[in-house]
Amino acid sequence: MPEPVIMLGLESSCDDTAAALVRHVPGEPAEILASVVAGQTDLHAPFGGVVPELAARAHAEKLDLCVEEALATAGLTLSQVDAVAVTAGPGLIGGVLSGVMCAKGLAAGAGLPLVGVNHLAGHALTPRLTDALAFPYLMLLVSGGHCQFLLVRGPEDFTRLGGTIDDAPGEAFDKAAKLLGLPQPGGPSVEAEAAAGDPRRIPLPRPLLDRPGCDMSFSGLKTALLRARDLAMAGKGGLTRADRADLCAAFQSAVADVLAEKSCRAIGEYMALMPPEPAFAVAGGVAANATIRAALEGVAGAASLRFLAPPLRLCTDNAAMIAWAGIERFRLGHRDDMTLGARPRWPLDKASPAMLGSGKKGAKA
Ligand code: KG4
Ligand code: ZN
Repeated sequence: MPEPVIMLGLESSCDDTAAALVRHVPGEPAEILASVVAGQTDLHAPFGGVVPELAARAHAEKLDLCVEEALATAGLTLSQVDAVAVTAGPGLIGGVLSGVMCAKGLAAGAGLPLVGVNHLAGHALTPRLTDALAFPYLMLLVSGGHCQFLLVRGPEDFTRLGGTIDDAPGEAFDKAAKLLGLPQPGGPSVEAEAAAGDPRRIPLPRPLLDRPGCDMSFSGLKTALLRARDLAMAGKGGLTRADRADLCAAFQSAVADVLAEKSCRAIGEYMALMPPEPAFAVAGGVAANATIRAALEGVAGAASLRFLAPPLRLCTDNAAMIAWAGIERFRLGHRDDMTLGARPRWPLDKASPAMLGSGKKGAKA
């Protein structure tokens, strides 16, 4: 009979410094005892994007404070923790290094086992943390640095069915916000502005829908938005409030349509495997978008699949998902030692070739 586990998780791969404690008793739902996230939005705001060197330094300063706060919230000391899990990649290398060094120090100092975790596995396994979802399920991981459909068969068994060939949707939202003079992160500000807009007045393309399979492209959409913005501004000297709202609504609806159509295709591939309890789950920061969630839920419902979207605080980067992925690896017997390295790239599906270069938010696949 496997033992209960209390895992400390650390996350620092992009612009959120996070520490969390998760307890799992076999046969029971996992319990998040504490989840602390210190964002860096204000730090990077003047630069219009994440500055890797500033991010790494801020992670190094904040990590142990986040750990202390998580332990205090859970009412635990390090001696009551069973192991330390840390994001060991993929991501911005300075930040990942800060986390790995901190985790090594904690593990060595307290005599605890160390488990290196793939950040993407953290997102992809979140529906098991929240809902104990059974394998195999279909996952759409859609965030600022990532966009891929994954067939999830086990804690370390991922098959990529398709993904973006250029920008990730979150990155596209961030660039769209920049083009329209809205604050970062772009997703929430575009979504808020879109609420007052008409998604049909300004036509934008739905890239790559004519290509079979579930690969996606979002960089052309951003260029199309730039043209539409310039057209709307021509002769007026600036964007009206209504134009900006319509551009936001048009952009959001184009992203939602592409994700929905490609999800239909991914669901087709997944259902061919005849899973006993078919489920489609979404994770990552863009899953916080209500229009996108609704579109994906509609697609899942039409195909009679269970649809799962984590609560918003577990959609964006956090350490509870890292602690959980650590528990899954730990239960499989995985242990790392002081040679654990930080990996800027770490594809989940080792059999599929890398699709992307490194974007604003780090290595994407
Ligand atoms: O998962 P996440 O916190 O970090 C990465 O691993 O990338 O995702 C952050 C991304 C940002 O690009 C942000 O603009 C986007 O998720 N995002 C949203 C929304 N909230 C966050 N995109 C669209 N709509 C939202 N409501
Ligand atoms: Zn992430």
